Amino acid sequence: MIQASRNVGIVGTGSYVPEKVVTNFDLEKMVETSDEWIKTRTGIEQRRIAEENMPTSEIAYIAGKRAIEDAGLTPEDIDLIIVATITPDMYSPSTACRVQAKLGASKAAAFDVNAACTGLIYGLTVASQFILTGYYKNALVIGADELSRILEWTDRNTCVLFGDGAGAVVLQAVDNGYGILSTNLGADGSMGDVLTIPSCYIPEHEKEKRKPENYRTIWMDGSEVFKFAVRVMANATNRALDDLNLDINDVNLIVPHQANIRIIEGAAKRLGVSVNKIYSNIHRYGNMSAASIAVALDEAVKEGRINKGDLIVLVGFGGGLTWGSAIVRWSK
Ligand code: ACO
Repeated sequence: MIQASRNVGIVGTGSYVPEKVVTNFDLEKMVETSDEWIKTRTGIEQRRIAEENMPTSEIAYIAGKRAIEDAGLTPEDIDLIIVATITPDMYSPSTACRVQAKLGASKAAAFDVNAACTGLIYGLTVASQFILTGYYKNALVIGADELSRILEWTDRNTCVLFGDGAGAVVLQAVDNGYGILSTNLGADGSMGDVLTIPSCYIPEHEKEKRKPENYRTIWMDGSEVFKFAVRVMANATNRALDDLNLDINDVNLIVPHQANIRIIEGAAKRLGVSVNKIYSNIHRYGNMSAASIAVALDEAVKEGRINKGDLIVLVGFGGGLTWGSAIVRWSK
């Protein structure tokens, strides 16, 4: 057992995206779409797609290893591994257990969380409780997804939106005043049908949305998700700031889930901030689900957009439906 600390911070970040690039022009050859439609409606120009022999656990492992190195630790130092994913290699073992084996993190407990694109915020909120209580010292939280494996590649409504990737953070106790200052998690299961990926049980109404050979692919009502996303991104950010008696003017950078540049712009408008205060890499990767926020955070740090003392908002939404935000005073 480790002594309890009141402050938990992100002390390392890492990410990995597959090498294979699929551009909008490549998709023009596969479905009735155009580079112009995709770019103007979503902001996406290209995405990365994993090779067959690189499952979610493999890209999660690489991102996790990089985050551990960035934190100046070794896998043996890690007490807990949480992988946020909706595209696990298998139902069992969990992706976190597979990552634990690849890392050789033999002392770590390991489990997955499923909160779709909000997964990283859920994962880091859960992991930080273990450090707050003193139960664990070092936690690795990974957001990793390969939506390419569950896309209906003839459905232009979904196949143009997603890409594969993994991002990771290492959490540890940090000095007072730094670290994760507040989080805000939410869910509305009654709206779950607007974004679904069936698995063991496939209700009749889900069969009706898909071709029989594609019952386990992603389906969504894009415009419902869009409206929900703009609303909850702004609300979750404001709630977490309110808890600290801070407001949006105190924030240096917002790192949101990257689903659609118009969702990001809509949330910025509701929050009353310039888009310059918001980090976006959606043009390069599309929507990488649970990996989006973690990859964006890692890139923002490496690009020097985040420095010690900065106030950062991580905010996302996703299937479930779920949403979440975290306010972080950067400690490195
Ligand atoms: N290329 C060309 N036309 C297309 C394409 C495409 N790839 N996709 C849809 N269209 C067509 C539609 O069929 C429709 O045609 P119709 O009017 O003849 O029926 C037309 O374009 C307009 O469709 P809209 O739905 O009005 O387009 P919109 O501007 O709303 O954009 C989009 C659609 C991009 C899906 C948007 O609604 C969106 O981004 N929603 C949020 C999705 C999201 O974030 N999902 C991830 C959630 S995270 C998670 O947990 C996995």
